[in-house]
Amino acid sequence: MCGIIGVVALPGKTPYKPSEMGYRGLLRLEYRGYDSAGGASIDPFRRRIIVAKGKGKIAELERKLGLSKLPGYTLIYHTRWATHGRPSDENAHPHLDCRGEIAVVHNGIIQNYRILKEELLRKGHVFSSETDTEVIAHLIEEKYRVYRDFYRAFKEAVMEIEGSYALAVITLHEPDKIFFAKKDSPLIIGVGDGYNFVASDIPAILEYTRKAIIVHDNELGYITPSSIYLEELGRGSIDWSRRVRIIEWSIEDASKGGYPHYMLKEIHEQPRAIRDTLYGLMNEPVVVEAAKLLLDARRIYTTAAGTSYHAGLYYSLATAQLAKQPVYSFIASEYPSIADSVGEDDVLVAISQSGETIDVLMAVRAFRERGGRVIAVSNIVDSAIPRESDLAIYMRAGPEIGVAATKTFTAQTTVLAWLAIAHGEEAGVLDRSEAGELRDWLAKAPQLVAESIAANESLAIKLAEWIAGKHSMYYLSRWIGVPVAMEGALKLKEIAYIHAESYPAGESKHGPIALVENMFPVLFVIPGVDWVEKLLLGNIQEMRARGAYIIGVAAEDTGLADQLDLWFRVPCGHWILTPLTHTPPLQLLAYYTAIRRGYDPDKPRNLAKTVTVE
Ligand code: F6R
Repeated sequence: MCGIIGVVALPGKTPYKPSEMGYRGLLRLEYRGYDSAGGASIDPFRRRIIVAKGKGKIAELERKLGLSKLPGYTLIYHTRWATHGRPSDENAHPHLDCRGEIAVVHNGIIQNYRILKEELLRKGHVFSSETDTEVIAHLIEEKYRVYRDFYRAFKEAVMEIEGSYALAVITLHEPDKIFFAKKDSPLIIGVGDGYNFVASDIPAILEYTRKAIIVHDNELGYITPSSIYLEELGRGSIDWSRRVRIIEWSIEDASKGGYPHYMLKEIHEQPRAIRDTLYGLMNEPVVVEAAKLLLDARRIYTTAAGTSYHAGLYYSLATAQLAKQPVYSFIASEYPSIADSVGEDDVLVAISQSGETIDVLMAVRAFRERGGRVIAVSNIVDSAIPRESDLAIYMRAGPEIGVAATKTFTAQTTVLAWLAIAHGEEAGVLDRSEAGELRDWLAKAPQLVAESIAANESLAIKLAEWIAGKHSMYYLSRWIGVPVAMEGALKLKEIAYIHAESYPAGESKHGPIALVENMFPVLFVIPGVDWVEKLLLGNIQEMRARGAYIIGVAAEDTGLADQLDLWFRVPCGHWILTPLTHTPPLQLLAYYTAIRRGYDPDKPRNLAKTVTVE
């Protein structure tokens, strides 16, 4: 996820050169993940903006470009994690307007950038990158031509952009200010003495000040070395003095945003990750291209490993339902067993958050060698799997640091649901209004996921105390709930080291029920679908009859409430949202069980985040 730090200082008032402060802050943002970085400053003679940026690691760029040696007292820096446009020197931030008088860094996604860009191109603006961010620099330039008042121009531009953003902007027109705005991406102000900061995150400023103001959505303003102006769009200026917080955390704590582990932070980041993913999908022509490819396919396959494989199972069920097309799902490492049957006109949907998992990459290569076409779904722009595929659709979950996948699972299923809807529409199975209704459900997902997390965390802590002493557990469901149950079992196994097994609930009587004895924990994922509930009722009762302790993940309106010994209540929704609303309680249960057993959930034994060996 992108990171921003900006510093504006009075000469002689800072402990280090302002550029060194900016650079050191930038290093503190490295943990967020990035592929390129850069900085811009207003030269002390105020005649030009100096930019140093490129693809690669910060230390490397420092050697090549001297990021810490930029001159002047007004500087902005950025780490980029590619969303629009591949990682490259040109796409690295900051971005300039046509005249080099305005420099912008941005974290987030500008949803309407294509429309804005077309308009700006028509007006003669010249672009030098593929990013959505560059549009902002040109848009402010355009507004400044009209208003001749930079803050007014900045504000007008902010009102025109849609999507998520944390912005920091410097300009030759007002060289002692950094302008900022925020919506749905994090931004703070660091309050110093003779210098002030804007930053994505507290660790970036902690070396220089412990005073911070958290900027809220729809707020904007500017900082100078000795003043702060903050206003809310449509409401006017804000007295920020009562919002100054003293930060007590260490730098290490702060990079986890106050959470004890990255995994817990990433579980809580899911509403944001899903929202950004949705913003990225809206008006994304590649989704329509992918849907057309799928429509013309002779056979559709999907492949992945681990958590991504569960997302693939969900995708195959959703596509069968929404596009009335069967999708054959296989575990990536098993690709040799299907490779010989692949032919031209077959399409593979290859899912990998890292984009580098070797088994998935081998399956992609095997497919393409035989003339098949590949659609990649990934979190990492320009990683190996999207690069070697015909089309790539990206989630925008931000980098995942905890080894166990959490936010990337829900972001992945968001992308796959979107794709299944587009396919269903293209196939004529869904009419416009049915497809629109399903997309409206997805648009509600960030809010519903936030509710699911908030409603279930304390129950997960309580249940974890008991589960921590168990040796084995079942996770059962039917239909669209099965991939979610599988994901819950995988989480418990991999971070709490408790045996957990998952299978479609109807299979119990064909063997697994033999293990069930008094107080054996059985968790049922209960999607809010009548026929599923009716069948699960029988499965719950057969488990209960053998003494099992029944845990349910179900919506408020479930008909099975009286069958449950313990109930994770999730918000009511549509079946398409099942992985989004029902997975967070399972992630929390695994996390707190690992903690209770004294394990580090961020670094499970024997596991690596990216598996690049066959
Ligand atoms: C489980 C987990 C792994 C990954 C798997 C695939 O929590 O993280 O099972 O899902 O290694 O990784 P990607 O999606 O990067 O291909």
